[in-house]
Amino acid sequence: LEQKFEKLEALRRETAKLGGENRIEAQHKKGKLTARERIDLLLDKGSFQEIGAFVRHNTASFGLSSQRYLGDGVVTGFGTINGRPIYVFSQDFTVLGGSLSKSNAEKICKIMDLAMKNGMPVIGLNDSGGARIQEGVDSLGGYADIFLRNTLASGVVPQISAVLGPCAGGAVYSPAITDFIFMVKHSSYMFVTGPNVVKTVTHEDVTQEELGGADAHASKSGVAHFACENEVALFEDIKKLLGYIPQNCEEKPADIEPKPAPENAEALLDKIIPNSPNTPYSMKDIIGLITDGGEFLEVHEDYAPSIRVGFARVGGQSVGIVANEPGVLAGVLSIESSRKAARFVRFCDCFNIPLLVLVDVPGFLPGTDQEWNGIIIHGAKLLYAFAEATVPKVTVITRKAYGGAYDVMNSKHIRGDMNFAWPSAEIAVMGSQGAAEIIFKREITSADDPQQALRDKTREFEDTFANPYLAAERGYIDEVIFPRETRERLIRAFQMLKHKVDENPRKKHGNIPL
Ligand code: COA
Repeated sequence: LEQKFEKLEALRRETAKLGGENRIEAQHKKGKLTARERIDLLLDKGSFQEIGAFVRHNTASFGLSSQRYLGDGVVTGFGTINGRPIYVFSQDFTVLGGSLSKSNAEKICKIMDLAMKNGMPVIGLNDSGGARIQEGVDSLGGYADIFLRNTLASGVVPQISAVLGPCAGGAVYSPAITDFIFMVKHSSYMFVTGPNVVKTVTHEDVTQEELGGADAHASKSGVAHFACENEVALFEDIKKLLGYIPQNCEEKPADIEPKPAPENAEALLDKIIPNSPNTPYSMKDIIGLITDGGEFLEVHEDYAPSIRVGFARVGGQSVGIVANEPGVLAGVLSIESSRKAARFVRFCDCFNIPLLVLVDVPGFLPGTDQEWNGIIIHGAKLLYAFAEATVPKVTVITRKAYGGAYDVMNSKHIRGDMNFAWPSAEIAVMGSQGAAEIIFKREITSADDPQQALRDKTREFEDTFANPYLAAERGYIDEVIFPRETRERLIRAFQMLKHKVDENPRKKHGNIPL
C-alpha cells in the first residue's frame, strides 16, 4: 500500500512541475504567470478543486509520444471567488505551448458541462499556441466542441475570458462568444491571422501588439472589454465584475449594504448642466454623483466613448448603466457606440441586471462612412436590445433627446418602466436651430434680416419644444425632477421594480439585425 501511496504522491508532484523548470522560467521571463499561479491569484486561497490533473494525450505522431505531460496543457476545476463558486480553466503554455488537443479540449468541455448543470460562471484563462498542430482534425474538433458549449451556455451562465498570452486563429472564437474579454497590455494578443500572413496578403507592416494587443482591441476593434496593466490587476477586475453579476440566468445579482453617494453630490448635480446647450459636460461625473459610493465599473472604457456602459450600485442593487457621453462627440450614436451598448444591454437582460439609462443624445452620426457601413442596421441593434429587454428599465433624460435617438434610448414607448427628465431636458425631433431652418425656411430667407429671423424662430421653437413638459403631459415622462432628487428617485424606482415580471411573445428566438 505504501508504494501505491508513493505513486500518487509522485504523480501529484509531477503535476505541480507543469512543462518543466526551463519552460516555467521562459514564461516568467515574458512577464507571464503560469497556469497554476494564475488560479492561485484569482481564486480564494485553498478553494481550488482540480479535475483531470492526470489526463494525458494519446497521440503518437510527430514525436508526441515522448511528450505526454500530466494535465496535457490545461488546468481545470472549480473553486470560489469571494465565496462565489465558479468553474475555471487555465491553459498551460509550458506544455506544448498550451496548444489545444483532443484530451485537453475534453477537460475544458467537462467543466463547461458541469457549469451548465450547476448554474455557475465559467472563467477561461487563455494562453495558447492554438490548435495542436500534430493532432490535426482532432484538435479542430476539440475547438468546435468548446464553441458549441460556449454558444449553448450563452445567456445561461456568465462566461468570462482572460487572454494572457497568444490567442490566434481558431482559438479566438471561444473568447469571442463569451460575455467579457479581459486582456493584459504588452503580453497578450488576439488575431485571426498574425503579422506574417498580414504582410503576405495586404503588404502591411504591423507588430503583434499593434495588430492584436490589448490596446488595439480595447480601443480600435472593441473585441476586448478591459485592457489591464498586468495579470494581477486583471484578476482584481474580474473579481469586481463578478460582484455585480449573478451566478446564472435564473438568479438576480445579490444586494449589498448601500454606500452613501459622495458628499455634496446633490448640490453638484444641480450645477452640472451648462447654460448653453452646446457646451459639453461629462456624464461620467453624473454617474459618480448618483451611484452608491460614486463607484462605476466601466466596460469598454476606451472604445466608442460617446456612450458609456458599465456596472454600479444604486441603493445596494446592482444596475447596468448605459449613458450617452456629451463630453465625446456630443454623445452621438455611431455604429460602434450602438453595437457596444446593444451587447451590454443584452448581457444585463440575460442576467436579470436592471438597466439605468442616462440620456443626452443629439441623434445618430451623419456621413457616408456611417451610412455605407450600415448605421441603420447597427443603430437598430440598440433599439432592438432595449425594446426586447424585460429587466427593470429606468431612464433619466438630462438634456437632449432628439429624434429617433429619443425612441432608442429606453423611451417609455419601448417599455421604459420609469422615465424621468431634468428641467433642462429637450425632447424634440431635432435641435431648435435645425428645426427652425427647415420649417421656417421661407420666412427666414425672405426676411430683411435673415440671421435675426433665424434667431427669433429658433427661440420660438425652443420655447415650444425644447423642454420636458410636452412629453410629461402625454405621460411619456413619468416625472420631471430636480437633478438633486435623482439618486433618491432611482433608489425608489429600482426598489419598486425589484420583483418586476414581463415577458416577450413565445418564439424560437428573435432575429436581431446583425
Ligand atoms: N501546436 C503544437 N505545439 C505548439 C503549438 C501548436 N499550435 N504552438 C506552440 N507550440 C509549442 C512549440 O513547438 C514550443 O515547443 P518547445 O517548447 O518544445 O520548443 C512551445 O509550444 C512554445 O512555443 P514557442 O514557439 O517557442 O513560443 P513563442 O512564445 O516563441 O511563440 C506562438 C508562440 C504561439 C507565436 C508560436 O508558438 C506559434 O506561432 N505557434 C503556432 C500558432 C498556430 O499557427 N496555431 C495553429 C492555428 S490555430
